[in-house]
Amino acid sequence: MAKTSGNKAKFDIKDIKLADEGKKRIDWAEREMPVLRSIKQRFEKEKPLKGVTLAACLHVTTETANLARTLKAGGARVMLCASNPLSTQDDVAASLVKHDGISVFARNGENNKVYYQHIMATLEAKPQITMDDGADLVATLHGERRDLLKSIVGGTEETTTGVIRLKALEKDGLLEYPIVAVNDACTKHFFDNRYGTGQSTIDGVIRATNLLMAGRKVVVAGYGWCGRGVAMRARGMGARVIVTEIDPLPALEAVMDGFEVLPMKAAAKIGDVFITLTGNRDVLRKEHFEAMKDGAVMCNSGHFNVEIDITALEKMSAGKKEVRPMVDEFRMKDGRRLMLIGEGRLVNLAAAEGHPASVMDMSFANQALCAEYMKLNAGGLQKKVYAVPAEIDAGIARLKLKCMGVGIDKLTPEQEIYLNSWSVGT
Ligand code: ADE
Repeated sequence: MAKTSGNKAKFDIKDIKLADEGKKRIDWAEREMPVLRSIKQRFEKEKPLKGVTLAACLHVTTETANLARTLKAGGARVMLCASNPLSTQDDVAASLVKHDGISVFARNGENNKVYYQHIMATLEAKPQITMDDGADLVATLHGERRDLLKSIVGGTEETTTGVIRLKALEKDGLLEYPIVAVNDACTKHFFDNRYGTGQSTIDGVIRATNLLMAGRKVVVAGYGWCGRGVAMRARGMGARVIVTEIDPLPALEAVMDGFEVLPMKAAAKIGDVFITLTGNRDVLRKEHFEAMKDGAVMCNSGHFNVEIDITALEKMSAGKKEVRPMVDEFRMKDGRRLMLIGEGRLVNLAAAEGHPASVMDMSFANQALCAEYMKLNAGGLQKKVYAVPAEIDAGIARLKLKCMGVGIDKLTPEQEIYLNSWSVGT
């Protein structure tokens, strides 16, 4: 399957001729990634990843390309595969191979078999560090490719779902190497999950359907950081937003943020657009499809395509057809038509371009610095899921503010003492 390019990069991509178009878009994204750029400049000088082979399973986007270029600038040999069969930007994959000599195994629209073949192909390079988005790479290493575990010193994980999987692996006593949960850095999930998912999910819905959001009843399933972002942005466009939850705390928060909160059974009857972001399976299922209005639109912005029970939808329907690129219409036996965007896969990456570069700047600055941290601490960490070191997190926030031209105050010496004392009260 894999080919080798003139610059020795191995690859399996759609079309190398797309490379120049991809490069233009990667360079455009780089302009919005000043924090990552500054890391790249330091990496070029210091080569902190010299001698490291790094296998990355990430969405192959313009932002990821800038991360891959940064890791390479730091001396790493980078092997990249997709973390979702529908998120690969084929021009970006081509550019990384042709212009950066990075090995890429990713084709937009690849089936599950090829998806896993591509994961296997990145692992063939016998990496020391893994970089994952959803933990499929780590799961493969802990399954079929256990023989490669001994050479791995550590890894990083990008997303909420991946961190949940890894913590489950750790809890079962099965995690074989240390992993930093990049997702849990404040400079990651407060921004990427909220503002990134908020904007890019609505972007995906609109690009796929061209629906007017104003006046539309948008049902947001899950009020975690991603759900909050989507609810906030949908409201900003004039949608009447309904939130569904299973956890009383975020449900209460949604109520006090001014959203209507309903069980899905009730929301299903009135929603125009349904967006799932829970990380759980079967959030929209038979009982909900039965209640939905003719023309209801469904999509998912959670990591895996398990949130909408597509098997049930298919069983219930009398036929399915593509009515627009990325939109399948399922005709129910009673004549109602239900729409599904992007096969229930991440709508923001399948139907749009994922989070904008400015927010990925912080997420991927965390990734680059945590890869460096893993190399520096090789052998010194336990087989656990670690938090991002606080200095890395705070340093990224400081640098991002500086790049945005935003100044903040400093504590006076008196304030410093006051904050560290218990004796002064009323
Ligand atoms: N996840 C969400 N948006 C992304 C992007 N633009 N690039 C890589 N991963 C992403």
